Amino acid sequence: MTKHFNIAIDGPAGAGKSTIAKMVAKELGFVYVDTGAMYRTMALSFLRQGIDPADEAAIAAACGGVDITIRYEDGAQQVFLNGENVTGLIRTEEVGNMASSTSVYMPVREKLVELQKQLAARENVIMDGRDIGTCVLPDAPVKIYLTASSRVRAERRYKELTKKGLSCDLDEIRKDIEERDHRDMHREHSPLKQAEDAVLLDSSPMTAQEVAAAIIRIACEHGLEVEQ
Ligand code: DC
Repeated sequence: MTKHFNIAIDGPAGAGKSTIAKMVAKELGFVYVDTGAMYRTMALSFLRQGIDPADEAAIAAACGGVDITIRYEDGAQQVFLNGENVTGLIRTEEVGNMASSTSVYMPVREKLVELQKQLAARENVIMDGRDIGTCVLPDAPVKIYLTASSRVRAERRYKELTKKGLSCDLDEIRKDIEERDHRDMHREHSPLKQAEDAVLLDSSPMTAQEVAAAIIRIACEHGLEVEQ
């Protein structure tokens, strides 16, 4: 099997992982794999079925009936839930919180980690999530732990939402982000943490372009050959 060059990016909600991973993927010709979208798609299915996120047995039983597939259209990841393209339906706070609550269960994680490993074995990927460097791609030559202060992350989210014309409260957003961080970092299985060999980048004082350039530089230092 050909060995691919994979880049793992982990970090808390709103650190800019997906924006930056997309930029790096475009620059390097890599495929961007958004693993959060997969947990969100599972969560959407559980929400539609009215399953209580605290009911572990019901979540485990429902996993078997969820089929998630990933396809790429013009380089953009599209995610399908039992054949339906749900890419446009999974970006709400409700789905994000449900994803955080239900990603604590092993049956959910096992199913998605398998899919993520298959995607990374096929081609050069830049994959973002919470456990990519620690669990999904432990041998990735480049691991980045991307973070930013909860204040900066809340402000970015606030700007994003108000730009879309949605009304929101900055303090509420910050509280939500801090709760999600706590849940993602303190769960039993594959909690969010920096892998020992990951490079820590704090994006608080940096632009997205600066962070993307830093990641490409780190990848080159770790053996990636880029055509000039
Ligand atoms: O990155 P995101 O906000 O789209 O992720 C939604 C939730 O999914 C996140 O709060 C925790 C979970 N998740 C996970 O447990 N492992 C991953 N690799 C990616 C996301």
